[in-house]
Amino acid sequence: MLQPHIGDSLDTLDTPAMLIDLTLMEANISKLMERFKGSKVHVRPHLKTVKSAALARLLLAAGAVGGCVAKVSEAEVMVQDGIDDLLITTEIVGKPKLERLVRLVQQSSHIKVVVDSVAGAQALNQAMHEAQQHIDVLLDLNVGQNRCGVLPGDEALRLAHALRELPHLHLTGLQGYEGHLQHIHNAEEREQRCREAMHLLTETARQLREAGFTIETDTTGGTGTAEICASCEGVTEVQPGSFVFMDTDYRNAIGPIYANALTILSTVISRPTPTRAVVDAGLKSLSTDSGMPEPKGLPGVTYQPGGDEHGILRCDDSASSAATLPNIGERIELIPSHIDTTINLHDVYYAHRNGKLEAIWPVSTRGKVQ
Ligand SMILES: Cc1ncc(COP(=O)(O)O)c(C=O)c1O
Repeated sequence: MLQPHIGDSLDTLDTPAMLIDLTLMEANISKLMERFKGSKVHVRPHLKTVKSAALARLLLAAGAVGGCVAKVSEAEVMVQDGIDDLLITTEIVGKPKLERLVRLVQQSSHIKVVVDSVAGAQALNQAMHEAQQHIDVLLDLNVGQNRCGVLPGDEALRLAHALRELPHLHLTGLQGYEGHLQHIHNAEEREQRCREAMHLLTETARQLREAGFTIETDTTGGTGTAEICASCEGVTEVQPGSFVFMDTDYRNAIGPIYANALTILSTVISRPTPTRAVVDAGLKSLSTDSGMPEPKGLPGVTYQPGGDEHGILRCDDSASSAATLPNIGERIELIPSHIDTTINLHDVYYAHRNGKLEAIWPVSTRGKVQ
């Protein structure tokens, strides 16, 4: 296979290919980091979006205190690549995962995990006991998403008390992620509901401190709420991930605060009618769980998957619309509607500046769902 080289023009890339516009991505990262400069709130970006150790390093260089990952297998790759201050934001259950976690903790003492049940905490404690290891844990609090998480208040206090009996676990804080609020279009409603969720988080932290627990970390927030969370007294850390690249679904919800920096480059392979063009990027290149990807710079042209390997571009039948549809061999960029699930479909990022290839980064935690 012909290998692209740094400095090449994007025309040399085969398609479909996942592109990063570095100028836009760097502006997104600086914008978010600027917003937190001088604040007491740390940024621990969620690396489930970028899925790349190279990008994690860029985020750390920009001021992040560490990273979040969703899964043990993602943490394994990051630790291997030298990124070891990680919070695993999903409950870790089952012997195979606990064994992998023990091995990780043996490599890095900065791995932190969340727990939301006595049973989960006991199994974790037992695994750490057998390996003579200790681990920092955060209570995962349900602040309204109704996914995982112990209820705020008394239930959280009961779980914290139970942790006192588990000497290999060291309770250091709370995670209260309000994922259900990130994409609320109405900014006032998003802010108001976020403040209510943060009250549940910070009030539970207060109750725990009053009961004698040392709670150092209250971690929360995504791209749609990070700033609101950070303005709530008691929040110490935010976990946004999507801001690095954005997608159309997020942009439609929160507005163009961050630019769409990631696209899928594709080639028109067929032009069966004046109003239809077919590209080589279908469901295996672009996810559609959050709506249709958007053809970049082609107003009035829509995309829909035409199966696993094909994408269909359409326009209305006016002469001016038909003129905007690209011809066979032309290349177009598609902006994903959901980046996390799209990135996980690709092996590498082709990072460019003004159309010249500047870096090729592996999607190093691609497929790491365990
Ligand atoms: C626990 C947790 N924190 C933070 C995030 C990052 O959110 P976003 O991608 O909306 O910035 C996610 C995303 O799903 C998450 O699950």
